[in-house]
Amino acid sequence: MQKRKLVYEGKAKRLFSTDDDELFISEFKDDLTAFNGKKKSSESGKGALNNKISVELFKLLQSHGIPTHFVKMIDDNHMLHKKTNVILIEVIVRNIATGSLSKNLGIKDGTILPFTLVEFDYKNDALGDPKLNDQHALLLGLVDFQDELDKLRRMARQINDILRPYFAKKNLNLVDFKLEFGKDSSGNIIVIDEISPDNCRFWDMTTKEKLDKDRFRQGLGGLSMAYQEILNRILG
Ligand code: C5P
Repeated sequence: MQKRKLVYEGKAKRLFSTDDDELFISEFKDDLTAFNGKKKSSESGKGALNNKISVELFKLLQSHGIPTHFVKMIDDNHMLHKKTNVILIEVIVRNIATGSLSKNLGIKDGTILPFTLVEFDYKNDALGDPKLNDQHALLLGLVDFQDELDKLRRMARQINDILRPYFAKKNLNLVDFKLEFGKDSSGNIIVIDEISPDNCRFWDMTTKEKLDKDRFRQGLGGLSMAYQEILNRILG
């Protein structure tokens, strides 16, 4: 399957049409952005690592019956996937407090949450991805029915129930992560985008080392090595 027209360029990926109306190709870029695009850089090999990590995690989810847009890996930087109507809600799942949760609500960084928190952010760069409640999401027409919001939460929890123990076996705490969803041509809600250290936080259980994009956000260095370590543990 060949790339045809560039349909969209995002911060971390380029999206191309293909000869098949139902399929798109994502090209994973080496670009890095944080703080709503205010901090920018590039790290050679990052795109390929995120593609490979996402491929493995999509396969894992699919093996547990979670529908995703993943079809196949084309090469190091390219993934073939289903075309969907993107739902403009970023679904954030949190097991341990850090990042914006600690900042906004004053919960001590590293606090293990008594239950898994699922939040919705409006996927809108111009507005800085603000928090949404269910009524906001319905008001904006981001989904058609309350049932669909309930489904997003249910799927996010199911995914966490698969990924959290999976990473725990690899001595990694899955601290939090962001999911995106779309509707396929039959209207089914499926997981889209990527699942990688760009949108998950992973902390080594023993050393507490951060093995994710916080290395870039916080200027810690060693980003490629961290992402490679995540891939090695997934494959190991
Ligand atoms: O920044 P915050 O603490 O809200 O991030 C929570 C989780 O969601 C982190 O794993 C982060 O990488 C991810 N996230 C993301 N894209 C955003 C916002 C958050 O991938 N726009």
